[in-house]
Amino acid sequence: MSADKQTNWSYTEALPFEDEVLLRARERSHELGVHPVSTGVGAALTVLAASAKAQTVVEVGTGAGVSGVCLLRGLGPHSVLTTIDSDVDHLRAARLAYSEAGIPGNRTRTISGRAAEVLPRLTDNAYDLVFIDADKASFPVYTEQAVRLLKPGGLLIVNGALDNGRVADPAAREPLTNTMRQVGKAIRDNDSLVSALLPTGDGLLLAVKVQPARR
Ligand SMILES: C[S@@+](CC[C@H](N)C(=O)[O-])C[C@H]1O[C@@H](n2cnc3c(N)ncnc32)[C@H](O)[C@@H]1O
Repeated sequence: MSADKQTNWSYTEALPFEDEVLLRARERSHELGVHPVSTGVGAALTVLAASAKAQTVVEVGTGAGVSGVCLLRGLGPHSVLTTIDSDVDHLRAARLAYSEAGIPGNRTRTISGRAAEVLPRLTDNAYDLVFIDADKASFPVYTEQAVRLLKPGGLLIVNGALDNGRVADPAAREPLTNTMRQVGKAIRDNDSLVSALLPTGDGLLLAVKVQPARR
């Protein structure tokens, strides 16, 4: 990244304001060894959730609730966030963050389990937004499941799509980097999706499931 692009990136990450609720959730994330979404990604999640007017949302990788609070703050009062994590301590911290953010309990459904086993139990074409931010090795499976879960017009968001800058470096051949390249290309080449990769945070991949008639 050229010096001015790095400066732009740092500026956009530092610009969003985060309140005490998010700062406490970030602190608990670090105590639990969880990597929460960056401030820029958090702000983008709020905007994307609001602009999508999403009512039904699935999150893969709850962590300590930073991304969940950001999504919920963009969602309407009747929306529900279904969020999945394999670690019960992370889910407990996330529930605390939702409560501190004043989110009523009936607006979140926290599911404990391995996402590859939970996602197939969720209903086809029933969700407006799916956010993926868990173990990268399983992103190809999660992406495939997300496309099945999304309604036409629904939005898929994949965090960490640039894998700490390694995806763009042709010399980087680590398995997880190759997996993230594969996910980016599979989304780009999927005729049922229109997509864009934003350099926000560690790469935010966006895709909308389009109506077959529009293609
Ligand atoms: C990067 S953190 C998520 C951070 C969260 N999105 C946030 O911004 O606050 C990844 C989370 O995925 C969870 N995870 C890892 N492997 C998983 C799996 N196979 N199924 C479900 N959750 C998993 C971890 O326990 C961790 O909480």
